[in-house]
Amino acid sequence: MSNKNDFLKYQAQISKTPLLINVKKAIGSYVYDDNNKRYIDLVAGVSSCTLGHSHPSIIKAVKEQLDLHTHVMVYGEFIQQKPLELAILLAKYLPVKLNCTYLVNSGTEAIEGAIKLAKRKNRRKTVISCFNSYHGSTQGSLSAMGANYMKKNYEPLIPHHRNIRYNNFQDLSVLDKDVSSVIIEPVQGGTNFEVAQKKWLKEIRKICTKNSIELIYDEIQTGIGRTGKMFGYELSGVKPDIVCLAKGLGGGMPIGAFVSSKKNMSYLSVNPSLGHITTFGGHPVCCAAAVATIHTLTSNKIIEKVESKRQLFLEHLSHPKIKKIHGIGLMIAIELENEKSCNKFVKKALDKGVITFYFLFNKNCIRISPPLTISFNDIIESCSIIKNVLDDC
Ligand SMILES: Cc1ncc(COP(=O)(O)O)c(C=O)c1O
Repeated sequence: MSNKNDFLKYQAQISKTPLLINVKKAIGSYVYDDNNKRYIDLVAGVSSCTLGHSHPSIIKAVKEQLDLHTHVMVYGEFIQQKPLELAILLAKYLPVKLNCTYLVNSGTEAIEGAIKLAKRKNRRKTVISCFNSYHGSTQGSLSAMGANYMKKNYEPLIPHHRNIRYNNFQDLSVLDKDVSSVIIEPVQGGTNFEVAQKKWLKEIRKICTKNSIELIYDEIQTGIGRTGKMFGYELSGVKPDIVCLAKGLGGGMPIGAFVSSKKNMSYLSVNPSLGHITTFGGHPVCCAAAVATIHTLTSNKIIEKVESKRQLFLEHLSHPKIKKIHGIGLMIAIELENEKSCNKFVKKALDKGVITFYFLFNKNCIRISPPLTISFNDIIESCSIIKNVLDDC
């Protein structure tokens, strides 16, 4: 009880309705509170804990790195094994031209770096992003956010940002030669996990190439297996010029990255040199966790099982109060009647031991984005609890 009061008193709050689980430990797909109550975690730190909690491969990698060294120098000066391994691994799994990585600490920093890189390359001002997009909360990412109500009390933000409609062809007419970059999420993380149409992305790619606009994919949520592919761009095959990663990349540790061609990245080192600086970006302990995440995902064929896990959710989530299920892979949005039913649902599900969450922009949907390692039994058990809760809502 005193923890709750202290949390509300001493830690800055971002809403009036935090979930307030008093976390004692977390293992696999379970989070335990201070009373040892077990919760099945269907949110995974909002698409971050790719391998679930306390995965042995991550614990081992982190401990081994801690025994060697933690932070030794700002980004880009010393050669450190784990950041290097991670950059090589990303080059291996991304398209050939995305072969050079800049490591940061978070998703929003990856977006900031990507926007800067595009501006530095083509010396243009305008940044295009989509309505209902969420790219982070720092000034540049917030300027790109596709929701004015989230921005207006924080103005002035960065000028020359414009939003277009997701999956809308007409709005692509704004992609002219004044545009520096266009930022697209292959699947929108803040709506109901709407998936970008292949035809739309192809058209964007065509215009970007013609007008020398940098196409940036925000794969901060789609990256590292969540859609059933290693990266979200693989859903369409349409490749970006810069890709931003974070969340699931660290398997529960804080990390971000923007990746582009070696030629593009070289802009950051000249005129001025030190064009983008970070102290902790590419922290060796976080990189060790990221390398372990990618190795474990690939060697255990975890991504290959994502689609069958989605199908199991769909099979067991049939209920009269569910209007529709949206999304792709283990990005599942359950549409209910309205915002009130969603709020009620999330709280009641928590009482019954299942963690679900909201969407920033779509208030009629419940977010399900469990660890990719969730077991078939836990899917069936959590769906049965969800249906019980729905009976009550
Ligand atoms: C698609 C997307 N982009 C960017 C971000 C920002 O990432 P971070 O919270 O690590 O800054 C998020 C976080 O939710 C996200 O979902």
